[in-house]
Amino acid sequence: MTHAPVHARPLTIGPVGLATNLLLAPIAGWCDLAWRETCRSLGGVGLACTDLLSPEGLICGSEHSMDLARTSASDRPIGMQLYGSDPATLADGARWCVDHGATVVDINMGCPVDKVCKRDGGSKLMCDVDGAVRVAAAVRAALPEGVPLTCKMRLGWSEADAARGVAVDLAVGLARVGVAAITVHGRTTEQKFGGACRLDGIRRVVEGVRDATGDAGDGGVPVIGNGDVRTPVDALRMLVETGCAGVMIGRGAFATPWIFRQAWAMQERWEAGEHTPDAPPDVSDLEPSEDEKLDVVLAYFERMLGYRGEHHAMHVIRQKISWLGKGINASHCKALKQDVRGAGTPGEVRGAIEAWRATHERVVPVA
Ligand SMILES: Cc1cc2nc3c(=O)[nH]c(=O)nc-3n(C[C@H](O)[C@H](O)[C@H](O)COP(=O)(O)O)c2cc1C
Repeated sequence: MTHAPVHARPLTIGPVGLATNLLLAPIAGWCDLAWRETCRSLGGVGLACTDLLSPEGLICGSEHSMDLARTSASDRPIGMQLYGSDPATLADGARWCVDHGATVVDINMGCPVDKVCKRDGGSKLMCDVDGAVRVAAAVRAALPEGVPLTCKMRLGWSEADAARGVAVDLAVGLARVGVAAITVHGRTTEQKFGGACRLDGIRRVVEGVRDATGDAGDGGVPVIGNGDVRTPVDALRMLVETGCAGVMIGRGAFATPWIFRQAWAMQERWEAGEHTPDAPPDVSDLEPSEDEKLDVVLAYFERMLGYRGEHHAMHVIRQKISWLGKGINASHCKALKQDVRGAGTPGEVRGAIEAWRATHERVVPVA
């Protein structure tokens, strides 16, 4: 396989220039304002996105949709992701997003969840390429020039669809009606989140869109690769093996929200030396100290308290401390996880973190 060169090139989406080529993925149940700000505060995030939003929920102002769509001055640039299949409703939703601060509007064409697909939204859109392109064209027409439309998809609904190149056809069709960037998760809908993410499938989409619109560096429509990026080296591999212009990371940030700054530095250092994915540049100096990692967890918790209140924050921190704790000195933080899970008040969460810091901060794992 020929490998694409790595240039540490910040991504441009239509008229919007990003600081890097790394994107925080929408992950329903994770990617609210508190989490986005937490990841951004650690550096390297070029664009973050809301979880999928119901246009009907936005328009009628449902409390849940308002919580999910909430943003802030520091939460920029921000993509707002819509799901559904009705062009007029999606167009109304897109206008709502623009009025409420969206830098970019995204249409979800990859969600495999029944609730979404039964209403012909999410990855069901991939089953009717012409229809999906019409939906995108209607939303594009509803947006002002300065706000780009992006779409996020999979390789197709089934293996047969993927083999036929549905994702290539859809991506090229979308690019032709003015979609400014396309994210491809390298799995089919039927795979859901199982099996391997296929970089060769993403590469086909990159090549198809490049053939139709030109190189992303010369104004062509960029394709963003997504799936199973857990480490900075995985991000590099995605760039090198697919030729994609950017990398979107979701679950890989759960335990290591500083992955973006490390993955960006890895690209910059790659350019400065002789490297291969098997002998990548060292970015371990950008790993936060144990003390800083605890501060990340605390800051995330305080943001959740501030934005969504005690009931939500307590529920989420108890649920997510296992993930968040994985990035902390793993062999030693079982007690921290247990104490946070058992906490009954915000004060007890803070106390559990500080108690652990006081006793374990200086434990250095044996190499
Ligand atoms: C629990 C969960 C919720 C997700 N929610 C969304 C969503 O709201 N919108 C979306 O486009 N993708 C969603 N995804 C898909 C992710 O954005 C991403 O495409 C997928 O997890 C693969 O990337 P990763 O391996 O970096 O996580 C979700 C994935 C998971 C596991």
